Amino acid sequence: MTVDVYRLHAQVTAWLQASRIHVQDAMRQPLDVATKSNRNDLVTNVDQQNQIFLAEQIQTAYPNAHIEGEEGTADKINRLDGLVFFVDPIDGTMNFVKQRAHFAIMIGVYEDGQPVYGAIMDVMQNAIVAGGPELPARVNDVLLPALPDLALADGLIGVNGPMHAHNRLHIADIALASSGARMSGSAGMEFMEIAQNRQLGYISFLKPWDVAAGMAIVSGQGVVVTRPDGGPIDLLNAGLVVAATPKAHQEILTWMQTN
Ligand code: IPD
Ligand code: CA
Ligand code: CA
Ligand code: CA
Repeated sequence: MTVDVYRLHAQVTAWLQASRIHVQDAMRQPLDVATKSNRNDLVTNVDQQNQIFLAEQIQTAYPNAHIEGEEGTADKINRLDGLVFFVDPIDGTMNFVKQRAHFAIMIGVYEDGQPVYGAIMDVMQNAIVAGGPELPARVNDVLLPALPDLALADGLIGVNGPMHAHNRLHIADIALASSGARMSGSAGMEFMEIAQNRQLGYISFLKPWDVAAGMAIVSGQGVVVTRPDGGPIDLLNAGLVVAATPKAHQEILTWMQTN
């Protein structure tokens, strides 16, 4: 790894704090809300402004890095060589618009396709969960305890709402076999819950910027993050993601593959 991960963490923490101030200032004004692919796929002026702000910080500090952000200030990447920053400037835009809470800002950093670092900020709680393979997971720089390897019956699981409703890949059955299903509307907040031992996993259909930060953090804590067939997540496309404690992950894949 060529990156000093502690220096990176200090830089990203400062950027996220500056973003939080900008976002909370902007929330005092009327939001400019537009739809993208459908009526539930929203983007606001705040998503776009924060994408630009974070991309500028990254480009200044890491001029050779590539940036893959949801609201696209750079060309879509087609290779994972070198240093790549995945940016989701507002994760949970529907929550942001409807609830003015329960949304996150996420930055995931990978080098040659391998995780280096992830940071997720719950803006309204002013909480940052960060970590990676060489940075022990932490919330606001308080180290998090090691995660227990919970079986599916012993913990809550975050699920994608439409997939649960249609029992796609047995997700409703898997949820019934757990302590209960949760749907937060923000992939970032789901990964924050996993990192803090509040739920044992998360199953969803995600884009690269939805999964990059969370996967870097929780895989460093021993959580297994794969596709439903057990293969590695493709960070150029992403897709279906199963993240869970090793025991529960095995149970989930068995449900998905054999039932
Ligand atoms: C969305 C949220 C949501 C997940 C969607 C994502 P966005 O991100 O993370 O929880 O179910 O797949 O697209 O669009 O609000 O950044
Ligand atoms: Ca979006
Ligand atoms: Ca997102
Ligand atoms: Ca987003």
